[in-house]
Amino acid sequence: MEQLKAVILAAGKGTRMKSDLPKVVHTIEGKCLVDYAIDAAIGAGADDICLVVGYKHEVVENSISHKNVKFALQEEQLGTGHAVKCARDFLGDEGQTLILFGDTPLITAETLNRLAEHHKKNGNTVTVLSAMIDNPTGYGRIIRDAEGRFVKSVEHKDASPEELESHEINSGMYIFDTKELKEALDKLTPNNAQGEYYLPDTLTIIKNKGLKVDAFALDDPEDITGVNDQEQLAAAAEIIRARTAK
Ligand code: UD1
Ligand code: CA
Repeated sequence: MEQLKAVILAAGKGTRMKSDLPKVVHTIEGKCLVDYAIDAAIGAGADDICLVVGYKHEVVENSISHKNVKFALQEEQLGTGHAVKCARDFLGDEGQTLILFGDTPLITAETLNRLAEHHKKNGNTVTVLSAMIDNPTGYGRIIRDAEGRFVKSVEHKDASPEELESHEINSGMYIFDTKELKEALDKLTPNNAQGEYYLPDTLTIIKNKGLKVDAFALDDPEDITGVNDQEQLAAAAEIIRARTAK
């Protein structure tokens, strides 16, 4: 089988948690948030995993239960594209790479497998996981043309009023051809509303090379829901307990 690696972004502090602990080490049923993302990646066939860490990285490194995970240090949080770039040496030059967030514990191996299948079947160079959501405020939006073909992913703060009307959001999760990902990362610039290196800009860079880029949309956003505050942590815990009970 072709090589599948995973990079999980977990360098942020998670200010809205109102806690000194890094967000991703908060637990649900005794397991820390980032361990849920690691389990989903392993379940989807990733055999080599790198966590991008930054804020209180020793705490994160000591909290995860998986011992053969690798780490890349992002000293300053300059954006999701910059974070992946910090794992450049880990990526290598072969196969495909999954990108996940450490604060989305509801993602499942099954959904990642569906994403990977869609990616492979269509011969895509990159496929972003998206979802239809009632209130897309704050999220990156997936923009499609009149025929429904993927055009780009634009951040809320950079979007035009027309683009803000899209209810299809970027989940932050992707599967990339590793070699093309690395080349695109080198072309990122921080020329945007937040002055950050945006990972979603790699979609445009790769598309402009004439390669296939697509968004795989989930009808139900549950699996991609992130945890940003204590209330969302409690809601995610509720869902995980219900899933376990099934
Ligand atoms: C990101 C996406 C957006 C998407 C949303 C889904 C970008 C530019 N935007 O937005 O399209 O709709 O996620 O939730 O990618 N992180 C690092 N280092 C950094 C920046 C972030 O490790 O320099 C980590 C954070 O710890 C977090 C994750 O990446 O786990 C997402 O970062 P966050 O700032 O919350 O992303 P958004 O700006 O909300
Ligand atoms: Ca941000």
